[in-house]
Amino acid sequence: MRMTDLIAKKRDGQVLSTEEIYYMIAGYTDGSIPDYQMSAMCMAILLKGMNEQETLDLTMAMTYSGEVLDLSPIEGIKADKHSTGGVGDKTSLVLCPMVAACGLKIAKMSGRGLGHTGGTIDKLESFPGFSTALSEKEFFENVNRHGIALIGQTANLVPADKKLYALRDVTGTVPSIPLIVSSIMSKKLASGADVIVLDVKCGDGSFMKTPGQALELAENLTKIGRRAGRRCAAVITDMDQPLGFAVGNALEVKEAIAVLKGEQEGDLLDLCLALGSCMLTEAGFAGSHAEAKETLKMSIRDGRALNKLAEMVRAQGGDDRAVYQPELLPKAAIQVEVPAPKSGRVGRIHAEAVGLVSMMLGGGRATKEDVIDPAVGVVLRKKLGDAVAEGESLAQVHANDPEKAKEAVERLQDCFELTSGPVVRGPLIHQILGTGL
Ligand code: URA
Repeated sequence: MRMTDLIAKKRDGQVLSTEEIYYMIAGYTDGSIPDYQMSAMCMAILLKGMNEQETLDLTMAMTYSGEVLDLSPIEGIKADKHSTGGVGDKTSLVLCPMVAACGLKIAKMSGRGLGHTGGTIDKLESFPGFSTALSEKEFFENVNRHGIALIGQTANLVPADKKLYALRDVTGTVPSIPLIVSSIMSKKLASGADVIVLDVKCGDGSFMKTPGQALELAENLTKIGRRAGRRCAAVITDMDQPLGFAVGNALEVKEAIAVLKGEQEGDLLDLCLALGSCMLTEAGFAGSHAEAKETLKMSIRDGRALNKLAEMVRAQGGDDRAVYQPELLPKAAIQVEVPAPKSGRVGRIHAEAVGLVSMMLGGGRATKEDVIDPAVGVVLRKKLGDAVAEGESLAQVHANDPEKAKEAVERLQDCFELTSGPVVRGPLIHQILGTGL
């Protein structure tokens, strides 16, 4: 078999066989197929597409390019969640303890943040002492004992995706449905969960700009997940503004704690309830989404969800007192408000730009080697549709460097578009694909 022939075949719109796809992924992973050939193949796939069988073959070939986790030593039904990436997206911090408090097992590997979106692992490391590097044995023991463990991705999980994603990033081949589906689902399948729930974002700063494109991606993700033998659901959600109020690691942890304490309602809680009810219904723990939502809300009301977060933090070596006293979390030296330049209503908040401000303050990474500052970030004071008077605060900057704080204030003023007209707001949740509706 020759890679040149496979590239030509896809360029001409033909279907690749299972063997050809496995050959290509094995060769690219072991280095015998060079980047320039794989780039040409990615572009051919982006332009000509792949049918369902090809997408499944590509996903499975990538899944088995490295270590595949066998979660069978963990009793019960194991659930996992994936988000295609959002600014201020701290859903895992709320959702995972809440769902674990309802009896589902959460054995989850999460990523670190890169660019304008943060990673769950970085956020959790705001708890002093928290370890995200458990051995496989500790990981399984913790989930069996506490119902939940959140750790970093192991080095050998889907090596094909590590190489391919870096290549796609620099060759204009990220926005291809078969390539996105195989990238996301190979990591989820290799992580071993029985139930997989996907949060597919659409709008500013996400891969899929319209609900229609996001629906196509969500349908393909769930189809491939089911064909691979997993229970799978997807929620299509809006990303036209940051989720919740906080953007930045410890700030997001504090907000997640407030939601788990029942002190904060709104978009973050709504999304967590939607994702959580998909998990419970797919797992057979609830007969309908309405029933699942009640079960989840009860876990907040009676304190079990918050206690589950504390239990996980303690079990992974962190200071769980911070769950009940969030003032023990890292705090920035400077807090400064961002005054509105005029009166009006918030017509738009550029989510990606807000994420980039948090990154500039030190809350995110430009390169994998950067060390993040857990204390810094932004807390929005106003969200879409809110009225604001001139000089009133739009957001609060948390910084450890006066120059950066000043720059953040200026940049954040540009992140908000103020209008005198009416503001039309779309729904947060566009559609849910799954059972138990
Ligand atoms: N997230 C991934 O993990 N892979 C993609 O291709 C896109 C989003």
